[in-house]
Amino acid sequence: MLEPDLLAASPAGLAELGRLVRDIAREAAAGLRRRGGPLPAMSPEELTRLVDEQFPHGVVPRAGAGRDAVLALARACAETTVDLADPRAAAHLQPPSLAVAAAADVLAGIFNASVDTWDSGPYAVEIERRLVKGLCRLAGYGPESGGVLTPGGSASNLQALLIARDAAAAKVRDVRSGGLTGFGLAPLVLCSELAHFSVARACAVLGLGEEAVRTVPVDRRHRMRPEALDAALRGVDPGTRLPVAVVATAGTTDYGSVDPLHEVAAVAREHGVRLHVDAAYGCGALFSDRLRPLLAGIEEADTVTLDLHKTAWQPAAASVLLARDAADFTSSTGLRVAYLNPDDDGEAGYDGLLGLSLQTTRRADALKVAATFLALGTDGVGGMLDACHDLARHAERAVAAHPALVLTAGATLSTVVFRYATRDPAASDAVNGALRRRLLRTGHALVGRTDVAQDDGRRTVHLKLTLLNPQARTTDVDDLLDAVVRAGRAVEEEGTAA
Ligand SMILES: Cc1ncc(COP(=O)(O)O)c(C=O)c1O
Repeated sequence: MLEPDLLAASPAGLAELGRLVRDIAREAAAGLRRRGGPLPAMSPEELTRLVDEQFPHGVVPRAGAGRDAVLALARACAETTVDLADPRAAAHLQPPSLAVAAAADVLAGIFNASVDTWDSGPYAVEIERRLVKGLCRLAGYGPESGGVLTPGGSASNLQALLIARDAAAAKVRDVRSGGLTGFGLAPLVLCSELAHFSVARACAVLGLGEEAVRTVPVDRRHRMRPEALDAALRGVDPGTRLPVAVVATAGTTDYGSVDPLHEVAAVAREHGVRLHVDAAYGCGALFSDRLRPLLAGIEEADTVTLDLHKTAWQPAAASVLLARDAADFTSSTGLRVAYLNPDDDGEAGYDGLLGLSLQTTRRADALKVAATFLALGTDGVGGMLDACHDLARHAERAVAAHPALVLTAGATLSTVVFRYATRDPAASDAVNGALRRRLLRTGHALVGRTDVAQDDGRRTVHLKLTLLNPQARTTDVDDLLDAVVRAGRAVEEEGTAA
């Protein structure tokens, strides 16, 4: 006999859900109290052993153990997963999620609505439409614009390049989703040398080949040089190559630098090439009066990626692809499927969002995002980015003033890149890499790592603070930097294997 509270969206199920969420939160709070930093104080092998011991028969048993098993999972998860709300978590573009967003996300789970068809989730469809409209307005787009939520910035960039590929193919021959190489033309996608790797991966997936990507050099402030882009486009032989898109980045992953969007848009326009702006990281500036000027010109892009699971503090995933002309979606993903959205249903108003997306079943991710803006307003979210920007500026000053640290790049948005200054310069890469692992091992501090091209072409290891906790204080940043220096000294004394 199945329990009456088995299904979430029943009255009994909702009552049980309330109890379960309360108990899970209690267990998670107990788990959190047992930790001393953003990561568990153990090695990967120790964690593997711990989880093996917790689940000697794996996590897919034949017979379930009921709610106690769930509560044990919650406690162990809170104790040993990453704690992004810890002020010493500063590694990745992965923010702590907002309580309001996590709570509203429960709605997506309860009702399991899907936005592909109207009858799979009518309310969620309406909310996504309104969310997209609001974001288009903030980006400076007009009434013809449109957009869709996607599972991430990589997916948004992929879909933007799909649209660009199809538009380019349509230019040379009126075909839908045609391969460019079939026309004897090698496709070309231009982006800065600091563009996210998902651009190249999208080219590979779309059959353009990673070799379609030509990188344009950046200036000292890590921004694409528009004159170099212009030169690259002037050098294109129209008999052999077909420019598909220029991709500008508004918020590079490491530096937060924003390509000069007006200038890049002007060059792209002059050469008749589509412009995509990857604002996966920089999108938070849409909500901030202080930082919005960085995005001036974004409205000139044909398409824009926004990752609200980065700088709008959403639980993943909440990425959005916007298009200045919503018809772009129709030509690339517009699709009528007999069992989902037949023409006559659509004509009668029963249309979902299937034709905008590469997915079919699609989660109601718009609910948590809408709930966030409804609760906090764009001002509330923008204020959070301002707070992180303040922290990054503090970190920049603190690194510059610290005798044991060397500043590589200061704050544009909320990242700062630097290095621990080793006594032996030849040991810099090994020591900086090892000191970060040492911090991981203690679980006390979580800083990022990247490599940076030097003038002679060598790439050297650097550290990075990605500051996305708006409640962290400047003293937390100071603690993080002290932890880096202490770990650096310990590694120098004990060796990089420590
Ligand atoms: C600039 C930029 N674009 C795209 C992405 C990919 O986003 P996602 O991890 O959501 O796929 C990232 C990830 O950090 C990024 O920094």
